[in-house]
Amino acid sequence: MKLATRTTRIVPSPTLNIAATAKAMVKQGIDVADFSIGEPSCDTPAFVKAAAQAAIQAGFTKYTPVPGIDELREAIIEKFHQDQGIRYEKAQILVSCGAKHTLYNLAQALFESGDEVIIPVPYWVSYPDQVRLADATPVFLQTDESKGYAIEPAALEACLSPHTKALILNSPCNPTGTVYNRQTLEDIARVALRHHFLIISDEIYEKMHYDGMEHLSIVSVAPEVAPHTILVNGVSKAFAMTGWRIGYAAGPKELITAMNHIQSQSTSNPTSISQKAALAALTGGTSFFAELMGDLEPKRNLMVERLNKIPGIMCPTPIGAFYAFPNVAALFGRRHPKGIISTPSDLATYLLNEANIACVPGEPFGSPAHLRFSYTPTLETIHRGMDRMETAIQALA
Ligand SMILES: Cc1ncc(COP(=O)(O)O)c(C=O)c1O
Repeated sequence: MKLATRTTRIVPSPTLNIAATAKAMVKQGIDVADFSIGEPSCDTPAFVKAAAQAAIQAGFTKYTPVPGIDELREAIIEKFHQDQGIRYEKAQILVSCGAKHTLYNLAQALFESGDEVIIPVPYWVSYPDQVRLADATPVFLQTDESKGYAIEPAALEACLSPHTKALILNSPCNPTGTVYNRQTLEDIARVALRHHFLIISDEIYEKMHYDGMEHLSIVSVAPEVAPHTILVNGVSKAFAMTGWRIGYAAGPKELITAMNHIQSQSTSNPTSISQKAALAALTGGTSFFAELMGDLEPKRNLMVERLNKIPGIMCPTPIGAFYAFPNVAALFGRRHPKGIISTPSDLATYLLNEANIACVPGEPFGSPAHLRFSYTPTLETIHRGMDRMETAIQALA
């Protein structure tokens, strides 16, 4: 069969692939310490589940308007007004089947052959492939681990060309945990306004930040950039609702309308029941976030402490999201009976096969030197996994 050429430009999501392998191993009875999956381990809040159950009981189980039900879009407008300080109109809001789908619609509506899209490295695995699926070209903006992966204006300007269409920002960042400060966001906004490119601001981890660091949205810091910015968010991470598949965007009316048209010809509306659940989540107060952070912070501290105790591993403390992103380059060149560790993938494969530890190698995030560990599993799993990791790394010659 001759498949469309676009299928050859992308790979399946590496994070979902590794998570599926780990799940398959667990099914075979193998005790896997799974740090691959990017989701909170706690349950979706009970009041959110109750709203979904009520929706089913009430027969709210049919098609809805393509961009989402009015009440949910109004709740999203309110959320952006409260959190980001910008009041959008309803026509500027689109609800989709997860933030990944939001970003997909966005790429399809905005990018085409000849366009360049700037992506800071390390990046979330799906950004480059979504750009490629839209026939555009990702341009990678290198950042420096020793400077906290901050975007430097001069480096950003060096990536620009007459073909630059957009910059994808992700703060707090998956995989590094970087949270951009006011100065960085002001600098980025200034460059964007001067050079007329759009900003796509993926803020899906906005509720997860530590050590007094606050999440700032570029549109709050520099409201003059709001007409040229698309905010992407969703309920997956903030409300432990990864399976419900609700993401949303706010941005220029023309672009949101085009995304809406693409959605109308692909998925139609997001699931009616999930929309009611998301509505409950967004209007149900903020107490769940404190609970979530109370769960995550000790896990972060333990994971980083344990990783840093392993010789050859250097792990900065992430200040946002829920991933540790240790540098493992010092282990390259070490050997085990079946081969040599030369890359993050070699190490991740060794850890999975020999220590039953699932983590994601750095390459699909654009890093040749790191592994990504999600620290959402239990403290006990982190202890167990890190004990095994210590032993596995010590066993390397
Ligand atoms: C940076 C980033 N953006 C978007 C998404 C997609 O989120 P959703 O589950 O809402 O599709 C993820 C999921 O891992 C993510 O890490």
